[in-house]
Amino acid sequence: MRVSALSPSNSAGGLTVLLLLLDFITPAATVKHENFKTCSQSGFCRRNRAFADHALTPESNWVSPYEVKENTVLLQNGILTAEILKTVPGQAEKVVLPLNINFQKNGAVRVTIDELKRTKGDIVLRGESKARKERYNEAERWALIPDWDVRDDKVVYDNQKGQITLAFGPDLKYKAVVTVYPFNIKFERDGETHVVLNDRGLMNVEHWRAQPPEPEEGKEKSPEDLDGGWDETFGGNTDTKPRGPEAVGMDISFPGYDHVFGIPSHATSLSLKTTRGGEGAYEEPYRLYNADVFEYIVDSPMTLYGSIPFMQAHRKGSSVGVLWLNAAETWVDVVKEKKTKTDTKTHWVSESGQLDVWVFLGPTPQTIYKAYGELTGFTKMPPSFAIAYHQCRWNYVSEEDVKDVDKKFDKHDIPYDVIWLDIEYTDGKRYFTFDPLTFKNPEKMMKNIDQTERKVVLIIDPHIKNTENYPVVDELKSKELAVKDKAGDIYEGWCWPGSSHWVDAFNPAAIEWWKSLFKFDRFKGTAKNTYIWNDMNEPSVFNGPETTMPKDNLHFGNWEHRDLHNLNGMTFMNATHQALEARDVGKGKTQRSFVLTRAFFAGAQRLGAMWTGDNEAKWEHLQAALPMLLSQGIAGFPFSGADVGGFFGNPSKELLTRWYQSGIWYPFFRAHAHIDAKRREPYLAGEPYTSIIRDAIRLRYALLPAWYTAFHRASKDGMPIIRPNFVVHPDDEEGFGIDDQAYIGDTGLLVKPVVGEGVDKVDIHLADDEIYYDYWNHKIYQGKGKKEYSAPLEKIPLLMRGGHIIPRRDRPRRSSGLMKHDPFTLVLVLSQKGHAMGFLYHDDGESFDYKQGAFIHRQFMYNGNLKALTSRDLHKDRAAAAAYRKVAGALQIEKIVIVGASNSLDTSALANGKSKAKAILVEDDNGKVKEWHASLAYTAAVDKDHADVLVIKNTKLRIAHDWTVYLEQVGAEDKPKDEL
Ligand code: NOJ
Repeated sequence: MRVSALSPSNSAGGLTVLLLLLDFITPAATVKHENFKTCSQSGFCRRNRAFADHALTPESNWVSPYEVKENTVLLQNGILTAEILKTVPGQAEKVVLPLNINFQKNGAVRVTIDELKRTKGDIVLRGESKARKERYNEAERWALIPDWDVRDDKVVYDNQKGQITLAFGPDLKYKAVVTVYPFNIKFERDGETHVVLNDRGLMNVEHWRAQPPEPEEGKEKSPEDLDGGWDETFGGNTDTKPRGPEAVGMDISFPGYDHVFGIPSHATSLSLKTTRGGEGAYEEPYRLYNADVFEYIVDSPMTLYGSIPFMQAHRKGSSVGVLWLNAAETWVDVVKEKKTKTDTKTHWVSESGQLDVWVFLGPTPQTIYKAYGELTGFTKMPPSFAIAYHQCRWNYVSEEDVKDVDKKFDKHDIPYDVIWLDIEYTDGKRYFTFDPLTFKNPEKMMKNIDQTERKVVLIIDPHIKNTENYPVVDELKSKELAVKDKAGDIYEGWCWPGSSHWVDAFNPAAIEWWKSLFKFDRFKGTAKNTYIWNDMNEPSVFNGPETTMPKDNLHFGNWEHRDLHNLNGMTFMNATHQALEARDVGKGKTQRSFVLTRAFFAGAQRLGAMWTGDNEAKWEHLQAALPMLLSQGIAGFPFSGADVGGFFGNPSKELLTRWYQSGIWYPFFRAHAHIDAKRREPYLAGEPYTSIIRDAIRLRYALLPAWYTAFHRASKDGMPIIRPNFVVHPDDEEGFGIDDQAYIGDTGLLVKPVVGEGVDKVDIHLADDEIYYDYWNHKIYQGKGKKEYSAPLEKIPLLMRGGHIIPRRDRPRRSSGLMKHDPFTLVLVLSQKGHAMGFLYHDDGESFDYKQGAFIHRQFMYNGNLKALTSRDLHKDRAAAAAYRKVAGALQIEKIVIVGASNSLDTSALANGKSKAKAILVEDDNGKVKEWHASLAYTAAVDKDHADVLVIKNTKLRIAHDWTVYLEQVGAEDKPKDEL
C-alpha cells in the first residue's frame, strides 16, 4: 500500500482523512452495510411503505384521495392537461396538482404530475436556505435527447361517466383510460390492459406544508407532521430539508406479467425478485441512489454506483415498459400476485421532484427499446479500439512500468488496445498533471504506445484538490464553478486528494471551462490517443453522508443536490465527453470520444461506457456480472463491463482464466485490479493459463467485426449488444428467467460462461428446435431444453445457432488498429433448411465521417435452395456508399466457412475427394458473371452428431460491393471447364 501517495496535503484533519482513506483502500470482508440506509432508515421510504401497508389492509377501506377535476380537462396538440385535487383529511382546501399527459407519435406516453403551489414558488423554506422552491423539472434536460418531443396530434378523446378514453399511437392501437375518481390510468393495447398507474391507490404526492409545532405534552402529533419529514440525521450528518417532506410515490401494475426486468444497477438476477414477501423475496426495496458501495455484496437490492429507472415487463406475446423519470433517491418494491395468471405490481417512491412516468406499450422487446432510445438516445457509436481489450490496474506506476507491460503483451503474443493509468499517475492527485518523478515524459509514452495503434486512458475524477499552487482549483474557485453547500459557500469535502471541491457539471459555464482543460496545449503530455476515465462521480465523498454529498448542497440554478443526485455522475461524464470531442486532432478535425463512467443515469448511453465498480475476485462476483450486464442492455445502456479478474483480492489462476473466458463477452472488456492486489497481467499466469487466456482474447479480436456490427445496431434501434434468452426468444416461457447465458448481437452466437470453481460442464438452454453447433468442434445440439456441454478449463461453452452468418477477422495482431487492412472471414452457419443470414457494419472506427455516410453496411444472405450467397447493400444513401467504396474498396473477404454444408449442398463428391471444386460463379455489382477458381477444404462430419464444414479460400470478394456467389458446382464432380 502506498500511504505516502494518499497523505493529505494539509495537516489539519490529516489523521481523520488518512483513516478515512485507509478505510477505503484496505480490503474489508464485505460492504459496510452500516454506511448505507435501509428503507426504514430513509424517512420518505419508511413513510411510503407504511402508507402502502395501510392502503393495502382491507380494514382500512382505502380510497385514493386524488380526483381529476373534470372541468379542467383539455386536450390540445397531443397533450392532455387537467388538475388533480388531493383531499387532505381535516382540511377543507384541496391540494392542486397539475396533470399533463403527453402522447408521442411512436406510442410512448408521459404522465407528469406537479404541485401548483410549488410551480408558483408559493412556499416558505425552512431555515436560511437558498434552494429553489419548485419541484425539480430539469431531469429531462439531461436524460432525454433535445428533440425527443415528437407529438401525436391525432389523439382521439372520449369522456363517458367519469372515464376519459384517449386512443393514440400508430393506427390508434393504444388507449389510455383515465378514471377521474379515484384517479388512475389504465393503458390498453389490443383491448387488453397492460399497465395501470395508481392501480392499488398508492399514489402519494407529499404536498408542501409548514412544519407543525411540537405537540403539547400529552397531545397527538399533527397528521401533517410527517415521520422523518424534517431534519434527518444519519451517520452523524444532518439533512436540513428546507422544503420539508416532498416525496412522490405511485404504484404501477403489470396485469398478466410474471417477469419484470431492468432498474439497474443491482447485483441481482435479471428477472427481478419480489421485495415484500413471496419465494426468495428480498426484504428491502430496490434502491436507486448512486453511491460508492465498494466491495458490494451480490444477490442484493442494495443500491450501486449508477441507476436507470427503466423497467420492462414481459410475458409470452407482449412486452411493455416504464421509465420513472426522477433523479432523486428512489426505492422500488416489487410484488407478484398469482391468480390464474401472475400480476406483477410495483411501487415507486422518490424523495423529491415531479412525478414523471413514461409508459411504453410494446408489443415486442424491440419496439420498447426503440421507443426508449428515441427518448433518451441510443448508444453512442464508440471508436473501434474501445470494444477491444483494455488492460488496467491501480496502478501502472511509471513510464517504465507502462513500457514493460506493453512489451510483455507483445512478447507473449497477446493482443491489447488500451493501457490505463489510475490516480497515481498524477502529481499528488492534482488532475491534469503527471507525477514529475514517475511520468517525466508522458508525451513520449503516448507516442510509444501509438506505434502499435494503442491508446492510453487516464483517470480524471470530479473532486478537485483544495491546495495551493494548483491553477485548476484556483480557476474553479474564481469562476465559481463548484458545487455549493447549503449556505451557498463553496462545498468542501474529502476524497483521494484530501480536502477537495467538486465541479458542478450542471453549470453550462463549468462544461465550457472543463472543455478548455483537455486541450492538448493545456493538458500537457496528452495526445490524440489519450482518453478518459471518470470515476468517483456519484459523487463519492469520503466524509459525506452515505459516502456522498449532503442532500442540501446546492447546484447550478440553486437546485438541491437531493433533486438531481442520480444525474450528477452523468453530467460530469457529459462534460468530459464534450471535452474529448472538442479536441482538435489535426487539420481542424475531431474524433470520437471514449469516456468510462462509474455513475450513470438514463441517457448516459449517449456518452460512453460504464462498468460495475468495485467487485471482488470471487466466483460469486464472476457469476453476478453477466446478469448485471444483461440488465444494462435492457435499460438502454449496453456498453458495459465488469472488472475482469475481480477488483479486490487475488483470483486463483482458474478464476482468472474463467473470468477472461467470460469477460470477452462483456461489451466493455477491461481487466482491473486494486492497488493491493498482486500483479495479474495474463502473461504472468503461466501455462496452461496464459495460453488459454490468449486464445480467449484472440477470439474477442477475431469477432470484433461482429461486435462492431452489434454496437451499430444498438446505436440505431437500441437492441442490446448481448441479449438474454427472452429478448431473442420472446415466446420461450421457460427461458424468461435465464440470465447466465447470452446471445451476441444478431450473430446467433450463444455463450454460457463457466462461473463456478472446478466446473467442467454446463447446461445450455436451447429455446427452439433449430440446430445449434459447437463453435469449436461443430458438434450438433438440437431440441428445445437443457443440453449438457462439456467445458474443461480450456473450453468456452459457445454455440452457433443455425441460420446466421458471422463476420470475423482471423489474423491475430497486436492491436485492433493493426487489423484495419485485414480481410474478413464469413462463417455461414446453416440452418436445418440450409439457409443463413447475417450483417456487417464497418467504418473508419475513429472519425465522425460515418455520420456523412462513410460506412459499409451489408446484409449477407445464403439461400440454401439456390445455393447462392448474396451481399446486399443496406446503406440508404447510394452516393455516399459509392464514395466510401473508394476508401474501403480494397477490403476483402478471404474465406467463407460453411458449417453444416450438407444442409444445402450435395457434398458427397467432396467427401469422396472427387471434387476440389474450383470454378465458382460470381455475379458482381453490374450483373456481370465471372468465374473464379476457389480452393476448397472440406471436412466431413466425424459422425452423425457433428456437422461437416466446407471452407472456400481466396475468394477475393470485396466487402464494399454487391455480389452473389453461386455454389451449385461446389459439390459436383470435376468436369472439364468448358462444360461449366
Ligand atoms: C475506485 C474505482 O472503482 C476503482 O476502479 C479505482 O481503481 C479506484 N477508485 C482508484 O482510482
